[in-house]
Amino acid sequence: MAKIMAVANQKGGVGKTTTTVNLASCLAAAEKRILLIDIDPQANSTSGLGRFPKEDEPTIYEVLIGEVKAPDAVIATDLPFLNLLPSHVRLVGAEVELVPMVAREHKLKEAVELVKDDYDYIIIDCPPSLGLLTLNTLTASDSILIPIQCEYYALEGMGQLLNSINLVQRHLNPDLSIEGVLLTMFDSRLNLSRQVADEARKYFPDKVYETAICRNVRLSEAPSFGKPIILYDILSTGAQNYISLAKEILSHG
Ligand SMILES: Nc1ncnc2c1ncn2[C@@H]1O[C@H](COP(=O)(O)OP(=O)(O)OP(=O)(O)O)[C@@H](O)[C@H]1O
Ligand SMILES: [Mg+2]
Repeated sequence: MAKIMAVANQKGGVGKTTTTVNLASCLAAAEKRILLIDIDPQANSTSGLGRFPKEDEPTIYEVLIGEVKAPDAVIATDLPFLNLLPSHVRLVGAEVELVPMVAREHKLKEAVELVKDDYDYIIIDCPPSLGLLTLNTLTASDSILIPIQCEYYALEGMGQLLNSINLVQRHLNPDLSIEGVLLTMFDSRLNLSRQVADEARKYFPDKVYETAICRNVRLSEAPSFGKPIILYDILSTGAQNYISLAKEILSHG
């Protein structure tokens, strides 16, 4: 049965999608059976893997509103061990359409029940908000991986995120744990990066991964070719960093 991992931080542009796509790809390269679920209406993980669902093709939106079963919306990617449950901009409607539904926070959890046994890991790319889509994800997940950008105000908003995690643990999913905190866009030459790393390690004792993801232009180029970094430039620092993160996560079991 799959371990289900949310990649979440309500802050925008911190590396959630880059981490989801590349961690999922590196684990798939290690022959773990992976499902990436894109639950962000921006659909950046979907396009980052070179997939662009047409109007009549089912996506996470149809799954959440109950029109389609999850297994019927899953598609293949260029990596044999990596499948994708894609997103589409029409998912913006779901934040509103889910509101009147019974057990509205449990839609994703119910949906993944049908695919859980087919994978080793299910990794979910969240939108930059703490709305119903993220709540659905935290309700469905065993753990949350929090990317933190090594920038000014990196930890601003962390209280709010931890508060949401607490609320979910109390009311929706008592088993949710923090998988780890990932430093992204790290630049060892900058004092600021090192300061953020120190602060994060104080704020989250024992939760910050040893692997930090360095700022690397190849990581930002790869999505425009619809490729994960290991297919775009395996020798880049970005690829090596995500391979190292995958190893670290596998060693934790
Ligand atoms: N390590 C890195 N080095 C260089 N560029 C990066 C790195 N990580 C992410 N980026 C770039 O930074 C931008 C934001 O990254 P990304 O889309 O992964 O963040 P996000 O948290 O998913 O954003 P959103 O909140 O909008 O969903 C993208 O243009 C991405 O290519
Ligand atoms: Mg994103």
